[in-house]
Formats: sequence, C-alpha cells, structure tokens
Amino acid sequence: MFAGYYKKTREERLAILREYAGLTDEELAALQAEGALPFETANHMIENMIGTFQVPLGLGLNMVMNGKEYAVPMATEEPSVIAAMSSASKLIARSGGMVATSSGRLMTGQIAVYGVPDFERAKMAIAEQQATLIDAANAAYPSLIKRGGGAREIVVREIETAQEKLLVVHLYVETREAMGANMINTMVEALAPEIERLTSGTAEMKILSNLTDMATATATCTIPANLLLSKNMGGEEVRDRIVRAFAFSDADIYRAATHNKGIMNGVDAILLAFGNDVRSISAAAHAYAAKDGRYRPMSSWAVNGAGDLVGELTLPMPVATVGGSIAISPLATLAQKIAKVENAEELAMLAVSVGLAQNLAALKALVTEGIQRGHMSLQAKSTAISAGATGAEIDMVAEKMLAAGQINLSFAKEIIKQNGGT
Ligand code: MEV
Repeated sequence: MFAGYYKKTREERLAILREYAGLTDEELAALQAEGALPFETANHMIENMIGTFQVPLGLGLNMVMNGKEYAVPMATEEPSVIAAMSSASKLIARSGGMVATSSGRLMTGQIAVYGVPDFERAKMAIAEQQATLIDAANAAYPSLIKRGGGAREIVVREIETAQEKLLVVHLYVETREAMGANMINTMVEALAPEIERLTSGTAEMKILSNLTDMATATATCTIPANLLLSKNMGGEEVRDRIVRAFAFSDADIYRAATHNKGIMNGVDAILLAFGNDVRSISAAAHAYAAKDGRYRPMSSWAVNGAGDLVGELTLPMPVATVGGSIAISPLATLAQKIAKVENAEELAMLAVSVGLAQNLAALKALVTEGIQRGHMSLQAKSTAISAGATGAEIDMVAEKMLAAGQINLSFAKEIIKQNGGT
C-alpha cells in the first residue's frame, strides 16, 4: 500500500493513509491544517511528509542573564515547564540574575583508524603533519574560513575496544554560528585518505562526536537563603533541603536521571523553539553527565560562606543560530528575534541558564510542597480540553476537578455533561 510513498504528492499520500488507517473527515482535517511551517517547505525537509506536528510555544519570563533580561520562547507539551521556569527565574533575578560564561565553540570530529601497525610512529607522523592536515581540512570547507571559523587542532587518542586497539584522530573545528555537522563530516571524510597514509591503517569511520566538551556553557546563580522562604518552611531549611536533594542525585543514578530530566525540560524546550537539533544536545548533555565514569547530576547545589544557595550547571552546547533547517523554519527565526539573541554563544548560555532555573524550580517544589500541586492545576486544564471543554468551560471544569481532588477524563466529561455540555 505504501510502495513508492515518497514519490507521491501530499494529497495522494493522504488519500492512501485515509484508506489505510480509516481516517474520518475530522482526522484528515487535522493533518491538513497548515501551521507556520508551510507544507511546501516541510515536504522538502523530510521524506513521506503528511503534515506538520505542533506543540505549544510559550514565553519563559523573568530570565536575567549577565544583566540582560530575556523573554524566552519555549516549545513544550509539558504543562508545568514554562510556569516553573518563569517563577524560578524571578527568584534568581531578585538575587542578581544568572551569571553565564562560554568555553568557546570547538566542535569535534572523529576518525577511527583500524589496523595501525606502529602507534608511536603513526602519532608522530600525524603530529608532524598537523599544519598540513588542518589546511587540508579547511580546503574541504572553504566557506567556513570566510566566516572566521575553521579547523583548529588535531589530537590523537588510543582506544582499547573489546576486540583491538585503535587510533582515534580528533579534529577540532570552530564552526561559528552553525552546529557544523556537515562541515565536520565533510572535513573528516576529506582527511581520511591522508590519515590512512600517515598511519598505515584503515580509516573505517569518520563522523562528528556529539560529546562536544570543547563547546560548553556554564550558568551560576547565588540566592540568599531568606528569598527561598516558602509557605510552611524557613529559607535556610529550603536551602539545606535543596543541597541534600543534590547530594541524593549525586549518590543515586535513579534520582540523577530524574534530576537531569528536569534540567532538560527547560533546555529542550528553548532549543526546540530555536529549531535546533535537540537530540544532539540531549546526547551531549547525558554523555557529559557521565564524564567522570559514572552518571551524575548535571548541576550542583551548595552553600557558600555567606549562607547563600549556589547553583551551577555546565553543559556541552552544540547549538546553532544558522544552518540545518533554522533559516527555513519561520518560528525558529522568530525565536531569535523575540529572545534578542545575537549569536550561538549567547543562545548556548541562555539554554544553560534556562536549564538551571528549571532545575531550581523542580527542586524547590519537591523539597517543600511537592511537585503535584503545581503540576495538577495545569494537568487539570489539559484533561478538561481532552474531555471536550472549550472557552470558559476549560477553567470551570479544571477547578471542579481540582476541588474534588479527582483529575481524570471520565470525571471531566461528567462535569461537562452536568453543565449542559456535550
Ligand atoms: C518533571 O518533568 C521533572 C521533575 O521530575 C524533575 C525533578 O524531579 O527534579 C520534577
């Protein structure tokens, strides 16, 4: 039924799909609703395109980073993410805001060389030819030089696999505003024959590494304990509980995974809104979290000499403001304009700041009133909508469910029915 599907027009694909899945007129209409991303563009972005998928886009507010205030576009389906980010950012702004730095942006390419007869000789030969190899890499992607970027350094590593020892050549490239996957892959492929000649080995794999530890960004925040005061708990108690929560995640991988998921709630949401490759950023972040040989929390929380709570987050940030599908994605371009982000380095620092704010919001809620209260009011609205509530009915149904302490689809439908709805 799907033979040659990729060659069909979108209308033909929808007709086939309609028959295959037994779609109703309404379901078909959902696929036919065009959003900000034109079908024409989407059709060139992927194969077998049948429609575009939407998630809510919101503004994370109150973020102050390095003295500049940001309204942060965030795309997420999770109800509490933006509210949590905005409230933690407000607290951090009252404490002087986020301080963020960047390590610079060198992306990494890898060439895996098998069957090298003499490792020392091979390493020496590459070291001697470093300048020539860098020139060759740059010649493979000349437009990057024009933009002030280019290959910068070559480092050789030895890796012991379960089967053999291999030589791994790392090429570090300054990719400027782009994430640079194509640049790096082109460069490592171009270098491979010369690397084979110099090492007498076989360059079987040439590909970028997603662990971009030469392109990190760091955010820190310092919050006076008295600002952490919550309804039923003093600020110092909240501070100490947050530090204990960090210690728990540092000692237990099950908690570390959840701690880090909370951070990525924010990081993924901002970077999705900016049209970035969130899979590459997630892969980088989780690999970096395991860089000490065990999986650890991405952020840390401690108390300084003045008794303030100090949070810090460093993440690899292979983000981009150009390249990939950014330029053809109208909302991604708009995100840059809304956030007033001028370059990839600023976006990297902003994403890490959002991640740290998101983490603070989660930890503060978890160690005080628990996460469910905040979550539930937003969850109640989604459930009301799923049950068919519209307009003012949504809040009414949500409030009734919250008051009854029962948030589920059948109860929402019952409330709608009782109030004369469908
Ligand atoms: C939920 O999406 C994220 C949290 O579980 C994060 C955390 O536990 O730190 C609340």
